[in-house]
Amino acid sequence: MKTSALSLTAALATLVTRATADNPIIQTLYTTDPAPLVYDDRIYLYTGHDEPNAQTFQMNDWRVYSSSDMVNWQDHGSPLSLKTFSWATAQAWAGQTIPRNGKFYWYVPMRHTSGSMAIGVAVGDSPTGPFKDAIGKPLVMNNGIDPTVWIDDDGQAYLYWGNPGLWYVKLNPDMVSYTGNINTVTLTAAGFGGRSGNAQRPTTFEEGPWLYKRSGKYYMVFAASCCSEHLGWSTGPSATGPWTYGGVMMPAQGSSFTNHPGVVDFRGGSYLFYHNGALPGGGGYDRSVCVEKFAYGTNGSIPVINMSKEGAPQVGTLDPYVRQEAETMAWSSGVQTEACSEGGMDVLSINNGDYIKVKGVAFGGGAKTFTARVSSGSSGGKIELRLGSASGTVVGTCNVSGTGGWQNWASVSCNVSGATGTQDLFFRFTGGGGELFRFNWWQFKQ
Ligand SMILES: *[C@@H]1O[C@H](CO)[C@@H](O)[C@H](O)[C@H]1NC(C)=O
Ligand SMILES: *[C@@H]1O[C@H](CO)[C@@H](O)[C@H](O)[C@H]1NC(C)=O
Ligand SMILES: *[C@@H]1O[C@H](CO)[C@@H](O)[C@H](O)[C@H]1NC(C)=O
Ligand SMILES: *[C@@H]1O[C@H](CO)[C@@H](O)[C@H](O)[C@H]1NC(C)=O
Repeated sequence: MKTSALSLTAALATLVTRATADNPIIQTLYTTDPAPLVYDDRIYLYTGHDEPNAQTFQMNDWRVYSSSDMVNWQDHGSPLSLKTFSWATAQAWAGQTIPRNGKFYWYVPMRHTSGSMAIGVAVGDSPTGPFKDAIGKPLVMNNGIDPTVWIDDDGQAYLYWGNPGLWYVKLNPDMVSYTGNINTVTLTAAGFGGRSGNAQRPTTFEEGPWLYKRSGKYYMVFAASCCSEHLGWSTGPSATGPWTYGGVMMPAQGSSFTNHPGVVDFRGGSYLFYHNGALPGGGGYDRSVCVEKFAYGTNGSIPVINMSKEGAPQVGTLDPYVRQEAETMAWSSGVQTEACSEGGMDVLSINNGDYIKVKGVAFGGGAKTFTARVSSGSSGGKIELRLGSASGTVVGTCNVSGTGGWQNWASVSCNVSGATGTQDLFFRFTGGGGELFRFNWWQFKQ
């Protein structure tokens, strides 16, 4: 585990030319199967998690991130894992979270003790948890995977899932039980695009369905064909179809043989979340979540969207004069995150030369001082505040000394000069050998 984490860190540290790219959006670990949720004017992102150097799907927990601007993502850690479900043994695969009645319901597939794949439901009091198993047993179990959930205008909630079939149940208002049988969608070429030479899979539909409604149309987006998978889309007049195949949404690209769509509108833009193998050391079993902005056709059609290194543009700016979490980042090199004794997460594994990029920081007329919440069980190091790149202009340097423990937190401040306007801010860490310090939060003052 330690060796694996270090080799990921080493691989990321070599990644010096990627400072202008924002895809993949998480660099501290491998993330999969994105499920975005817009709640309270913020975007929450639920993901799976590939263990490093995996030779198969080695997935034990799920992660949560959030953003107010699509480029700076805050890490909320792992509020859900196989351990949450007493009946689960392995395979923490693709899920989705939806709010209802002040609670958050997170549907996830796992291997059941019986050997079958099953879908469980966790319930939480906030979008970031804590979450617990809502019913202590699977919600549905027919060996299918990849649940997607949608609440229609009339309050009826639908849970779809797939591979190799496409099935759904009508959830009760409690979101943790359903009425009626498991319904099987008849997969036709007209509905999902034809595929030849695969008796079990007569259409391009493969797995990873994603259901939503937009401008009066219902959409079923899905991972298609195999392998490698592309993303396809279908539309229908109701949440139960009938479905009409639309076409390819994203070609098979990006050195992962799977993909998984998560489609959402946020502050007037439309976004596709997906995964690929683009992080160093990445591939089919070490995937990473990315995002692209796109525009629907006037008739509601979805365009063909390519994977990119640039990712989505920033929506708005980041305010450096309120407390910001160190684990809110557009890009990072070499660092990881952990649960913090002061609440939330902190950044660890900070070594000489590592950095964190925070994009579009609105300094306005100019920052005068910088404060960082730090800890160090060694002798510390320095935080260089740089603009534009990890080797850009230094506008301040904060000394961090030992605090007597890796969770003994202290605030350090330093003067700042020359930080004006809106800038990409880089925290570049320097010091001697080994881990220097940990970093919980930061704030500038004017
Ligand atoms: C919808 O619009 C797209 C281009 O925006 C076009 O390619 C497609 O043919 C249109 N579909 C229908 C059914 O009109
Ligand atoms: C996507 O990539 C293909 C192949 O490189 C290219 O032909 C196409 O123009 C690209 N589409 C967009 C929207 O950039
Ligand atoms: C920071 O540490 C350096 C030595 O590395 C020292 O010269 C400098 O005075 C320190 N700055 C502050 C504000 O303590
Ligand atoms: C920071 O700036 C203040 C006000 O200009 C000054 O009094 C103080 O000496 C500076 N501190 C350092 C460490 O340079």
